[in-house]
Amino acid sequence: MESLLGVFNGEFLPVNDIKISPMSRAYTFADAVYEVVPYIKGKAIALDLHLNRLRRSCEAIQLNVDISIVEKEIQELAYQVLMNDNGYIYYQLSRGTDAVRNHLYANDLTPESFGYATLIGKSNNQQIAKIVSDIRWGRCDIKSTALLANVMLMNQASIEGCNEIIMHRDGYITEAGSSNIFIVKDTKILTPPKDSRILAGITRELLLQNFSQSFNILEEPCHLDLLTEADVVFLTSSTKGMLVIDEIQNNAYSFNQNNDLFTQLRAAFNNFLETAF
Ligand code: PDD
Repeated sequence: MESLLGVFNGEFLPVNDIKISPMSRAYTFADAVYEVVPYIKGKAIALDLHLNRLRRSCEAIQLNVDISIVEKEIQELAYQVLMNDNGYIYYQLSRGTDAVRNHLYANDLTPESFGYATLIGKSNNQQIAKIVSDIRWGRCDIKSTALLANVMLMNQASIEGCNEIIMHRDGYITEAGSSNIFIVKDTKILTPPKDSRILAGITRELLLQNFSQSFNILEEPCHLDLLTEADVVFLTSSTKGMLVIDEIQNNAYSFNQNNDLFTQLRAAFNNFLETAF
């Protein structure tokens, strides 16, 4: 397979040609944060919000990086690879390379950056979710590359024939494996509130900022019980947009395809994505 175009420490080259030291703290500690910036027909969606979140993630881990350079590299990757197509840029910033592995980092390390561009097509897979206990750390608001809990939970779900997870803490839903969650019930659309137990998704934010009034979208604690009664459960992320959950393992939920509130919101949101940026 042809190698994707990447950028590593400012140099643009095929991802297969990038060489990193095993002493990189990205490798030994996942001492790194990242972003995924979506492009629709070659246009970046909410790039400023993504860059702001990256800035916040860097601040949270005390990583000092010039985000204006990141912005230029993201735009250059998109220009070279995505052109007028749909895709995304993955971009991560890590602490740098140690002489010897040490939890304490030296203050003079040079941060490392890595990004790549890839196209995305539409997937028509049925989304079947497993409900799981959220075993992640206490700072899920930081977009860290340390995602082992998500990887473990999602792969266990996959062994059981599911391709998504819905995580909860003490019965209250947090989010899905790599997306935020919304629950449509009667005249309301609910999503768990923003705190350190979830990632403040940009897609989630765009929905709340632009459609909460017209579609009655509310940030409220969401108990697992809601899933049984829900009309529609859907996920949001930069790569998925708004994606319906078709089925939940061991749960009475069934997706109501004719739900007007949901279908109208999805149409309005897709139109917004195509026109607002
Ligand atoms: N994931 N929650 C988690 C745990 C996520 O990993 C993501 C994004 C989201 C949605 O955020 P946004 O709307 O900003 O994409 C919520 C990205 C796409 C990923 O890891 O691939």
